Amino acid sequence: MSRIAYVNGRYLPHERAQVSIEDRGFQFADGVYEVCEVRGGHLVDERRHMARLDRSLSELRIARPMSAAALSVVMHETVRRNRVRDGIVYLQITRGVARRDFPFPPEGTPRSVIVTSRSNDPAWLEQMAGEGIAVVTVPDIRWQRVDIKSVALLPNVLAKQAARDRGAREAWLVDAQGRVTEGASSNAWIVSRDGTLITHPLGRDILPGITRSVVIDVARAQGLAFEERAFTVEEAYAAREAFVTSAGQIVMPVVSIDSRPVANGAPGLVASALRRDYHRHAEFS
Ligand code: PDD
Repeated sequence: MSRIAYVNGRYLPHERAQVSIEDRGFQFADGVYEVCEVRGGHLVDERRHMARLDRSLSELRIARPMSAAALSVVMHETVRRNRVRDGIVYLQITRGVARRDFPFPPEGTPRSVIVTSRSNDPAWLEQMAGEGIAVVTVPDIRWQRVDIKSVALLPNVLAKQAARDRGAREAWLVDAQGRVTEGASSNAWIVSRDGTLITHPLGRDILPGITRSVVIDVARAQGLAFEERAFTVEEAYAAREAFVTSAGQIVMPVVSIDSRPVANGAPGLVASALRRDYHRHAEFS
């Protein structure tokens, strides 16, 4: 079955789904995106994703192309047409098509809207969560507004490839003070020796992960000690546990950092319990 994409009002097989060479997403990475988990054919935490999308659009002064209700219909329809039960739905909005020129195009230029969806293999993800993943640290060379979920992801691409080159699944980005900001495509967490759950505070230097916000709810419900503060690479090496969060993988235990085992090198109890309880705190639509 050929995959179906929504592109500017039409549902098309991927082979025929196209955007213009003058799309500002292509020319300038002038656009934003969202990735939402699909589980049992439902969208997970759509409302939180749509709220973040609105914020990304407004920070970049891109007018919303359609109502939240209309976008919701398109996302659900794309999931349905692709027969995705478990996977993700991807939404991208760019400032539209215009002659290549740096300032914004004339007001009223239609924004481009693209939605795709694809399945993942829950058994494979569960297996990976049972084994844990390796991460490596790399300098965080991104711009100063990474709280906006923009499609300008070149530093993330390079970081992720550096991880792959070193046999790891994720890169942890490290600021000039030696502190971990987040992963190349995930938020970063540790559990300290005294059992405190720690993740970087919100601000302009991390993406406000939706999974991160739900995990905080789960941690509170489980009565875990929790601190929002930056942690150093050294602290991470010495941690009792580490893990990453993102829509695609929910809570994924980290078992090695720069080839050093985290504690005994097996997924931790806190990460596993957060993963187990996650969907009880998520919203399905
Ligand atoms: N990435 N930080 C970065 C830099 C990310 O790219 C992501 C998500 C996250 C986690 O956010 P959330 O919990 O809302 O998925 C944090 C998505 C999945 C991606 O680019 O594919």
